[in-house]
Amino acid sequence: MEKLIDKLTAAVSEAFAQAGYDPACGKVTVSNRPDLCEFQCNGAMPAAKAAHKAPIVIAGEVAARLQDSAVFSSAEAVNPGFLNLRLREDYLAAHVEEMRRSERPGVAGNAEERTVVLDYGGPNVAKPLHIGHLRSAIIGESIKRIYRYFGNTVIGDIHLGDWGLQMGLIIAELRERQPDLPYFDDDFTGEYPVEAPFTISELEEIYPTASAKSKTDEVFAKKAHEATCFLQNHKRGYYALWQHIMAVSVADLKRNYENLNVSFDVWKGESDAEAYIPPMLEKLEARGILQESEGARVIPVAEEGDKKEIPPCILVKSDGATLYATTDLATIVQRMEDYHPDKILYLTDKRQSLHFEQVFRAAKKSGIVPESTQLQHIGFGTMNGKDGKPFKTRSGGVMRLETLIADITDYVEKKILENQTLSPEEARQTARIIAVAALKYGDLSNLAAKDYIFDLERFSAFEGNTGPYLLYTIVRIKSILSRYDGDPAELSIAAADSTEAKALQLELAQMPDQLAMAYRDSAPNTVCAYAYELAGAVNKFYHETRILTEPDPVRRQGYVALITFAKRALEECIDLLGFSAPERM
Ligand code: ARG
Repeated sequence: MEKLIDKLTAAVSEAFAQAGYDPACGKVTVSNRPDLCEFQCNGAMPAAKAAHKAPIVIAGEVAARLQDSAVFSSAEAVNPGFLNLRLREDYLAAHVEEMRRSERPGVAGNAEERTVVLDYGGPNVAKPLHIGHLRSAIIGESIKRIYRYFGNTVIGDIHLGDWGLQMGLIIAELRERQPDLPYFDDDFTGEYPVEAPFTISELEEIYPTASAKSKTDEVFAKKAHEATCFLQNHKRGYYALWQHIMAVSVADLKRNYENLNVSFDVWKGESDAEAYIPPMLEKLEARGILQESEGARVIPVAEEGDKKEIPPCILVKSDGATLYATTDLATIVQRMEDYHPDKILYLTDKRQSLHFEQVFRAAKKSGIVPESTQLQHIGFGTMNGKDGKPFKTRSGGVMRLETLIADITDYVEKKILENQTLSPEEARQTARIIAVAALKYGDLSNLAAKDYIFDLERFSAFEGNTGPYLLYTIVRIKSILSRYDGDPAELSIAAADSTEAKALQLELAQMPDQLAMAYRDSAPNTVCAYAYELAGAVNKFYHETRILTEPDPVRRQGYVALITFAKRALEECIDLLGFSAPERM
């Protein structure tokens, strides 16, 4: 399906050509003065230079050729040489109807067919899933959906932090608490128990305790370090314990992400990169890519023209230990082998941007990744409380995601119950749906790189630039359509008969342009901004129009077709954002 703006450009280009000018001057854009016109073309200025004529003369000649056009209801030349354009209502309606009949109204042109690995979520096992990882999950899920909408094959990998010292800390602490467990008995040769010796809540208590202890207790810190080494060498009992920690944590994570409407295709983690490290280092060593620096093995990655110093990428420390960068580089090796991706996209806090710059350069320099494979890091800001500092619970602790969602749900539930339209059961379910929309939209509507303030009341408001407002708009259309007896699929969008109907159709026609921008920039906030505008156009239309009570059947049917499509467009947008609308609210 061709975009409206491209069709308009073709029509104006033809008029330029007919008048004897370069058709390339016929580029049409959405008007930046909607009070004066709907679209505009500024091509008479460059055409005037080439023809040595006044721009207004050329604009006049082109406008003359656009009179009686099947596309424009008015084409006006205004000083100093602009072309102000308005569309014919029947032409616009036919275009929007064509969109409505297409499978993906938000995509013009061919599907992209890249294979993309999306590294997002990135929670650390055995630590509670808190809002520090919330943004990665929310933004990543949306980007995944946007990429898929445009035809790409996306492999979403959670990339768990499941290896290293944090595991050693837990094992060392367990050993102190329950020394008699078979996992710590070197002579034990039997089968280990199937049940984990801890629950998720215990596990979540063990880690912070152990971590705090290691900071004051040197002996314990040493034990934790040893436990980490034993685990990394796959010492039988330790490895079995690690598997328990993984199983218990992953089950809990899955439940949490499900509540948030976030899902991953692959649940790999740092531990999966381990096996790739020795052969990778060997190859890099053999090819002379590793250099020695104060006893460490590094890849220098500074480049000419760097504006700030980019330190070498350290892969092996002087004590032989490998680092975060080593794991990430080895993970790239694994991903290249498994998926041959055209692109790998990472979503983390922007404080990790130097790390990724180093890893990406190292990957390219060492040929682990060919030049044609894109490596991109999207760094986001933090979610702050109203005090402008990173968000905390009322008691000052790190907020758990579960608690956060429950808090928003409670708040929304109270509001819905006040309206008294839903049963308590439906109210709870609906509140959950709205809470997810409030939280996600509150996050996604900001430019990712910026910090934002979590504001429960504002995010959950049913009016204003919020997720619940979009849901409310969709629910409103659903309610009208539920009272329409007939099949909207059999109807067609009719020529607009009011400013509001035309404005809504023009807004719908923008969908492919807006979504293409969101895709190009990996920017869910562009989807939010568009959905908000669209919802505004729907509500204006709704307030100005009798829809079901319109006596003229042709008009009524045209309205029903129009709002049916508006509902679908809004639903596709919120699906790209990773939430959905309830039936009623
Ligand atoms: N687990 C890491 C953290 O909590 C995030 C992982 C991001 N992905 C990656 N490939 N490094 O900071």
